[in-house]
Amino acid sequence: MSLRRIFIVLVAVFMAWVVPGEAQTVPEKKIGNNSVLLPAIPRGQGDHCVADADFMRRNHMTMLMHQRDETVRQGIRGKPFSLKECVACHAVEGPDAMPVTVASPQHFCRACHDYAAVSIDCFQCHASRPDVVTDAGGQGGVVRGAARE
Ligand code: HEC
Ligand code: HEC
Ligand code: HEC
Repeated sequence: MSLRRIFIVLVAVFMAWVVPGEAQTVPEKKIGNNSVLLPAIPRGQGDHCVADADFMRRNHMTMLMHQRDETVRQGIRGKPFSLKECVACHAVEGPDAMPVTVASPQHFCRACHDYAAVSIDCFQCHASRPDVVTDAGGQGGVVRGAARE
């Protein structure tokens, strides 16, 4: 393990330990006499993630890679750890009421990654927000999770 990787793992473990499940925005936390700044993580839609939230905090990278390999090499789609599903259910609305892209620091995936200095190249190819479509009445409404079937 490289030092950077060890550091990142420590940050992940630390976050999993101090970030309580219910709280979506915990900007600061007292640990002993120290105040620690924590990432503000936007909450996903609905009640549950595709797996236990604590498990997801620690293992989402591995699960995404497995899912990718299954899809790309074996053509299996629609399994739980779909990246398309992540961005649909974890869409965060920007000031214009449209889901933000990964260009925004508000983007779900950036909440921790910016904090932990992780950079991913996934969104060079993958959309970082759900398909934005015009509703039937032409109101220009955003249908959340339109990418989901
Ligand atoms: C159907 C909606 C839904 C989908 C799809 C979904 N999530 Fe979640 N996710 C949630 C919800 C709701 C929570 C908060 C659950 C909780 O606190 O118990 C959550 C929590 C998380 C957390 C922990 C966040 C925190 O506060 O520490 C991570 C990390 C995460 N999801 C990653 C992913 C990834 C990666 C994917 C795609 C493989 C994904 N999620 C797909 C709804 C979803
Ligand atoms: C060079 C372009 C490219 C990059 C970069 C890339 N992917 Fe993909 N990915 C693809 C293509 C093409 C598919 C196949 C899509 C299909 O057939 O449905 C795919 C499929 C997937 C799937 C299965 C389909 C889905 O939505 O769940 C997952 C998961 C996935 N990639 C995750 C990732 C992750 C995580 C990263 C970053 C670490 C990443 N990809 C980076 C091109 C890319
Ligand atoms: C709860 C905080 C958190 C959230 C939210 C989060 N991540 Fe991560 N992610 C991390 C941490 C910490 C690492 C570094 C772990 C390591 O390298 O062992 C990481 C690493 C990754 C990696 C592997 C990067 C590499 O170079 O090894 C991928 C891919 C990834 N995340 C995808 C995503 C995607 C996609 C989302 C949004 C759907 C997301 N993550 C949301 C904390 C988070």
